[in-house]
Amino acid sequence: MRKRVLFVCLGNICRSPGAEAIMRRRAGERGAADLVYADSAGIGGWHAGETADKRMMAHAARRGYELTHRARKFYPDADFGAFDLIVGMDDGNVRDLLAMAATEEERGKVRKMTDFCRRFAGRNGVPDPYYGGAEGFELVLDMLEDAVDGLLDQLLEDGKGGE
Ligand code: 4NP
Repeated sequence: MRKRVLFVCLGNICRSPGAEAIMRRRAGERGAADLVYADSAGIGGWHAGETADKRMMAHAARRGYELTHRARKFYPDADFGAFDLIVGMDDGNVRDLLAMAATEEERGKVRKMTDFCRRFAGRNGVPDPYYGGAEGFELVLDMLEDAVDGLLDQLLEDGKGGE
């Protein structure tokens, strides 16, 4: 069954639209485009309607990712029902998501992005690059690629079991 994954960060203009684009491309490369639907949202709605941060788009484009997402706020009433997995980028995102979850089932959908990391195993959260420099965006992309591959491995493994 198709898994619906929502990546969530604070502003939905840097980390989570990057994760969404990486997931879409990696799923395609691994023949799993039909297995995963990816979207992204922000805890805050300050940037709603905007394209991703220009710096994020430029760094991602150098790796061949096209960020087409328009920022939107996370809406608990709709999103907890519409997605199977809701993946926050850091502890703050996860804490905010859990606070908005109304049921045990909703709480059970929430994950932290770095829990899927292997190369970056042990890192706690994908750091917010918004107020930093170019190296911060490169680190974010390295971590997102690592986490997306780990998450895809899990989804492909689950898919084999006919879930
Ligand atoms: P993001 O980065 O959560 O990775 O999209 C941020 C973007 C904007 C803001 C904070 C973080 N902001 O405060 O506007």
